[in-house]
Amino acid sequence: MVDINWDELGFSYMKTPFRYRSHWKDGKWDEGELTEDNQLHISESSPAIHYGQQCFEGLKAYRCKDGSINLFRVDQNAKRFNQSGGRLLMPHVPEEKFIEAVKQVVLANHEYVPPYGTGGTLYIRPLLIGTGDSMGIGPAPEYIFTVFCMPVGFIFKGDLEPSNFIVSDYDRAAPVGTGAVKVGGNYASSLLPGEKAKEQSFSDCIYLDPQTHTKIEEVGSANFFAITKNNEFVTPISPSILPSITKYSLLYLAQDRLGMKAYEGDVFIDELDQFSEAGACGTAAVISPIGGIKYGDDFHVFYSESEVGPVTKRLYDELTGIQFGDVEAPKDWII
Ligand code: COI
Repeated sequence: MVDINWDELGFSYMKTPFRYRSHWKDGKWDEGELTEDNQLHISESSPAIHYGQQCFEGLKAYRCKDGSINLFRVDQNAKRFNQSGGRLLMPHVPEEKFIEAVKQVVLANHEYVPPYGTGGTLYIRPLLIGTGDSMGIGPAPEYIFTVFCMPVGFIFKGDLEPSNFIVSDYDRAAPVGTGAVKVGGNYASSLLPGEKAKEQSFSDCIYLDPQTHTKIEEVGSANFFAITKNNEFVTPISPSILPSITKYSLLYLAQDRLGMKAYEGDVFIDELDQFSEAGACGTAAVISPIGGIKYGDDFHVFYSESEVGPVTKRLYDELTGIQFGDVEAPKDWII
């Protein structure tokens, strides 16, 4: 067994032994293979590093009680990967190739999937970058599809401890830009607003809709949800929000398992007193309760700044129960 203190995992890079790599050239993908080399050797003129022609995914492998390993809704990541790639004129990665690459990487690094009960998971990062000799603005002549992984703990505070956020003056995405796809530029432009939030002791920032600046769109690098005072699950709707697989899973679970009305709708920043609980959700964030949100001079506390609300807790137990194999999963959610 590898020598790792599983209880002290954060969300940071760790080199694991194997990664998958495949190259696209002359209109087709090669077979792809596992490699131990964690460095990418690319032309200095690669469009990925000049013009941001790249996209990525994030998904996790979970260790179950019986020692087996679960992948959660990997087909949905494959689909979103191609939506992101398509938006930047990158070649399609066949869904079977994507899933096979993920499986190979998890199996080759299986010792790095944290033990059941530690809360840790194996985070998997598929990446597609435009490479080759190319200077003018146009799609790259070559591409690399790579998948690597590392064991991780929590991205915000752990153990369902609520975090506080501040509404940013910056926009995360343009109204009809690239907000709905997982491309690096969205995250690069969030670095400065995120840093400013942390300087003021907030975990990250809340982004409002870029068109009217009246509605919540996202929480840092995660989606937003709230529970209304009459026990409905609501999560923002907008063409510039990243379609989180966790968010869509929660919409389903809130309705199907918790018997709640669950929908995508507007969450106005000046109407937060309609909600009894709120949270951030995403692959890395899982479900992270939001204690309070600062907007201008106001600081709105939802359920509590120190305790998770009961509905958020039930959603968390249902979601993570499915992911770790303790609760029956909806059809085709687990491989
Ligand atoms: C994820 O939740 O998987 C993300 O990609 C968010 C962030 C770590 C970039």
